[in-house]
Amino acid sequence: MVFLLLEVFLFSQLAQYRSVWRMATNKDVVLKLEEIHKQYESADRSPVEVLKGVSLTVKRGDSIAIVGPSGCGKSTLLNILGSLDSPTSGNIQLDGQELANLSEQELAAVRNKKIGFIFQSHHLLPQCSILENVLIPTLAEKGKASLDAVKRAKQLLESSGLEHRLTHRPFQLSGGECQRVAVVRALINQPSLILADEPTGALDHSNAETMTELLVKLNREDQATLIVVTHSMELAAKMETTYKLQNGIFSS
Ligand SMILES: Nc1ncnc2c1ncn2[C@@H]1O[C@H](COP(=O)(O)OP(=O)(O)OP(=O)(O)O)[C@@H](O)[C@H]1O
Ligand SMILES: [Mg+2]
Repeated sequence: MVFLLLEVFLFSQLAQYRSVWRMATNKDVVLKLEEIHKQYESADRSPVEVLKGVSLTVKRGDSIAIVGPSGCGKSTLLNILGSLDSPTSGNIQLDGQELANLSEQELAAVRNKKIGFIFQSHHLLPQCSILENVLIPTLAEKGKASLDAVKRAKQLLESSGLEHRLTHRPFQLSGGECQRVAVVRALINQPSLILADEPTGALDHSNAETMTELLVKLNREDQATLIVVTHSMELAAKMETTYKLQNGIFSS
């Protein structure tokens, strides 16, 4: 009898470990990039080849840092990842959907629903208050922010130390405060994929730490997939994986 109970107990423990292991190893692929090339035209019309065959597979809940010298193509790559720009050649799949097959309108809907962008320059609307700026991404469906969205916006602004700035306009804020507003705006629709271009670039050490903690928390607790482009080794160290972009490709 004792042996039977022990066997049942061990079997149930094994089943539990198996399901945890399966959850950990069987994560869905969110983004898949294959051989991405990007070429710009310079002022004298000669080609500038920025990306020369970047491939990357990102799974749900991953946290990734992309580092590399200034001008190596990090923002270019992030814009392509978020469908704000298209590659010269190569394929991108987001949640199994080939982005090249979507119309501009479909791409805009995908971006609004799934992706939170934190831009290198914050792009806040000067005529709107801080609270209104944060609520803009929530207006796409009904043209009016819901009470839930307003509550979430206020909570996020508070956790970023901006609760006393709700009615201010961007020009009344410091550069670092504007950047924090831009981070909150990117998170308002609870995106499953957060793309952040130098999210702590304009912040002092303490605010950079707060912002890093907020992003890491969203990644760990809400399973938001996080890709950050950064020059900060401190922020990169908080991510699970770091890719170095150099000479148009990822190097180890
Ligand atoms: N629209 C454009 N037309 C021509 N060249 C461009 C264009 N946009 C970017 N570039 C060039 O592509 C290269 C990569 O630019 P990108 O902004 O992606 O660099 P980055 O790695 O983000 O740099 P930083 O760390 O300074 O932000 C640069 O040499 C830049 O001059
Ligand atoms: Mg950049």
